[in-house]
Amino acid sequence: MPEPKKLFIETLGCAMNVRDSEHMIAELNRKDSYALTEDVSQADLILINTCSVREKPVAKLFSEIGVFNKKKKPTAKIGVCGCTASHLGEEIIRRAPSVDFVLGARNVSKITEVVDTRHAVEIDTDYDESSYAFGEYRSNPFKAMVNISIGCDKGCTFCIVPATRGEEISIPSELIVQEIGKAVATGAKEVMLLGQNVNNYGRRFGTHEEEIDFTGLLQKVSRIEGLERIRFTSPHPLHMDDAFLEEFASNPKICKQIHVPLQSGSTRLLKAMKRGYTKENFLSRCAKIRALCPEAAISTDIIVGFPGESEADFEDTMAVLEEVRFEQLFSFKYSPRPMTEAALYEAQVDPLAASERLSRLQARHTEILDEIMDAQLSKTHAVYFDELKPQGKVAGRSDDGKLVFVEGSEELLGKIASVRITKTSRGALDGALL
Ligand code: SAH
Ligand code: F3S
Repeated sequence: MPEPKKLFIETLGCAMNVRDSEHMIAELNRKDSYALTEDVSQADLILINTCSVREKPVAKLFSEIGVFNKKKKPTAKIGVCGCTASHLGEEIIRRAPSVDFVLGARNVSKITEVVDTRHAVEIDTDYDESSYAFGEYRSNPFKAMVNISIGCDKGCTFCIVPATRGEEISIPSELIVQEIGKAVATGAKEVMLLGQNVNNYGRRFGTHEEEIDFTGLLQKVSRIEGLERIRFTSPHPLHMDDAFLEEFASNPKICKQIHVPLQSGSTRLLKAMKRGYTKENFLSRCAKIRALCPEAAISTDIIVGFPGESEADFEDTMAVLEEVRFEQLFSFKYSPRPMTEAALYEAQVDPLAASERLSRLQARHTEILDEIMDAQLSKTHAVYFDELKPQGKVAGRSDDGKLVFVEGSEELLGKIASVRITKTSRGALDGALL
């Protein structure tokens, strides 16, 4: 047997990118044999799976290509993949001729075609991969990530994703069930269903017709034997109808953790963002979640400094934080992106004012998080263990998504056990097996 080639892969951005990287590893291994390396200088193939949601990682890309190019073996190839590949296309090769090929976020299945074609550029955002059966590769055998849709139809005015990932197409439910079935057969008890807008599932399929919505998909997936936990990311607040929230609350396999991306608490700005809901609609959805499922952990995304944001708009955002008490907060300073409407808006916010608001938001959230975590002391959680940690520890997640450590060894991996919390901190909990 020839030595496997060495593959270095850097993945930036969201969970969909993480899954796209797994798909690329699987596809490459269908054609050739690859072993992963963390050392660029050893690699035969270097892949950078990029994100373009904010400007910073894009700016970093070209300096990084320069660094990799200096360190790499002379024969090693460099491929730029993902959203920035879709967005900049050939310009990447013009600016950095050491890049061998460019592969868009919607063209992942073509990795084996471009890998040996010098200066290939595959970035068609109309390409429909929704029925493509990817090869199998999972970085963690105990939990599977499975795409349920590709692209996004929403057109939030700040967001570049619809331009890089194309229109939204749902993946046939039978394919999703098959893929989860395979992961369960090899040891996964948990699945994370992925899409830019998961609860819009079923609105449009590619070549295939099917009458099913996200609630129907959740019911179908929960009938898979041996699957014990279902998570999903990200839903959109606009599509959180009662039937979906009732399914979320009552289905015992669905983990009680839900991401409800707010973006802004100001109805005026939500309109300018084209989010399709008001502050009041958003609060009513969160109140419904709390009423149906008081134990659920709610997380969110917030952008500060969107064009035209006034102090009063920002106070609306702070008021929503105060009322919902999000457990996890992903907060960002607005970054103007090409191919988006908001980049053309006048009244861009002074970056210093935006930074100051971001710090205020994060500081208040940290206090709330500390209160939530401190209140976990002596509570019991069902923890699914999926990772060995140094110093005789094993890590897992509670049903509501908290990171929990206990003392133990590999026998715990892949098991769900009751844990009593003995120590709390902002990022994680320590506990003892019951
Ligand atoms: N629907 C996707 C959103 C992808 S972008 C999902 O489910 O994950 C992830 C987050 O990045 C968004 O929710 C938003 O809060 C943030 N974001 C998107 N565009 C941005 C921009 N131009 N500036 C700052 N943050 C942005
Ligand atoms: Fe972006 Fe809005 Fe879609 S944030 S990914 S356009 S739901």
